Amino acid sequence: MSKKSHILIVDDEESIRDSCRQVLTRAGFRVWEANDAVQGLQLIEEHPIDLVLLDLKLPRLNGMDALPRFKEKKPDIFVIVITGYATIESAVEAMKKGAFDYLAKPFTPQELMVMVEKAFQNKNKPEIKEDNFPEDFSDFDMVVGPSPAMKRVLEIVRRVSPTDSTILITGESGTGKELLAREIHKHSPRHHAPFVVVDCGALVETLFESELFGHVKGSFTGAYATKHGRFEVANGGTIFLDEISNISLNIQAKLLRVIQEREITRVGSSQPIKVDVRIIAATNQDLASCVRQGTFREDLFYRLSVVPIHLPPLRHRQEDIPFLLEHFLQKYCQKAKKKIKSIPPQVRTALLKYEWPGNIRELENTIERAVVLARGEELNMADLIYHGLGSKYSPFSCQEGIFKPLEEIEKEYIKVVLEAQEGNKTRTAKILGIDRKTLLAKIKKFDLEEKEGGK
Ligand SMILES: Nc1ncnc2c1ncn2[C@@H]1O[C@H](COP(=O)(O)OP(=O)(O)OP(=O)(O)O)[C@@H](O)[C@H]1O
Ligand SMILES: [Mg+2]
Repeated sequence: MSKKSHILIVDDEESIRDSCRQVLTRAGFRVWEANDAVQGLQLIEEHPIDLVLLDLKLPRLNGMDALPRFKEKKPDIFVIVITGYATIESAVEAMKKGAFDYLAKPFTPQELMVMVEKAFQNKNKPEIKEDNFPEDFSDFDMVVGPSPAMKRVLEIVRRVSPTDSTILITGESGTGKELLAREIHKHSPRHHAPFVVVDCGALVETLFESELFGHVKGSFTGAYATKHGRFEVANGGTIFLDEISNISLNIQAKLLRVIQEREITRVGSSQPIKVDVRIIAATNQDLASCVRQGTFREDLFYRLSVVPIHLPPLRHRQEDIPFLLEHFLQKYCQKAKKKIKSIPPQVRTALLKYEWPGNIRELENTIERAVVLARGEELNMADLIYHGLGSKYSPFSCQEGIFKPLEEIEKEYIKVVLEAQEGNKTRTAKILGIDRKTLLAKIKKFDLEEKEGGK
């Protein structure tokens, strides 16, 4: 850490400024102070300031609005926001606006120093630029589409991977939470050590405690031998606590102690064991509302969400769908040893329009099935519709009151039924309630003849 680094404290509370100044000056930093953001913005123009401690609640211009202006004036400046416990949601918003991290009031001098050191460690790492996509993400297994939301997520991942910060990943089912946790581990200095997954919803409480922390021989009926818990197995690596909202208040208390003390105690023992484990938790629940309902400890929530990462649902980042589509198509063609050359435009449109309630997992499964079922070198609309997609996307769906001409619906519908009947015109005609000759005429009119020729 450079002794000459300059730090600016922006806070209207004199006592906070004083205590931060004392700690930071003692650590060898050059410290500047401002009691509001306007003054702070002026100071960063006048001095070579590397890091700003920014209170979110300020008179005149509040911290949240000032944050982008600090970044605008000096894009490589690190901003650590200071916030009260009650405004933790705004801390999350601040991270999205480019804050490096946040400190919740009240914080100790040690907490301040850890955070500042972490920022300066990161300062020496190459900056991530928005415009060098996609090469920038080529070392990720995850497919990263062009959506700003995902780029932002991956940027945060890059910043936090080298650190030991605890991370909370939120997002609907199938958005890639586990995959993201694996990426973080893979890009961390811990990548040679284990990545241990714990499904917090899977076990009854008594077994769960021993699963996490281990037990000593004879500690309960069935404990025939001493067992290492998952935390011990993960030593030196990362533990992924999946579906964290499911853990009982009793285990929550124990987990909180592990995070604070970095040591575990096996069931039936009183001997604490030191563990060096990075914790990543995930949930598809709204943990803040679990806190309000009293099913999740507030202090644990804050300890876990040092860096919160939200994975947006697929329907909010439709621009990523073509990239995922390409990826899964390749993957499953290779697996099924098939060559699918093209995705017909109407299939593509259907895939883009669909809401994907099961997110990326559903998209992946849909493509896998469609590839397996495909007969020719095209993905087939009927195969997709047959497997559920049609419940949302049908030939009759209209967008915002724009109605289609009857002929178009007729054409699409005949095509769907024809495909579902594998091109068999007799069966298709029967289903449609028209005679075969009429069907043939319509096929000709709508140019629906399959290249290989129907039956
Ligand atoms: N960006 C991505 N690129 C490629 N594959 C992805 C991506 N995101 C998710 N997947 C795939 O989607 C599937 C679901 O991902 P994952 O299991 O990580 O989701 P999840 O959020 O943990 O879901 P759940 O809440 O149901 O456990 C996996 O097969 C994963 O490989
Ligand atoms: Mg999961």
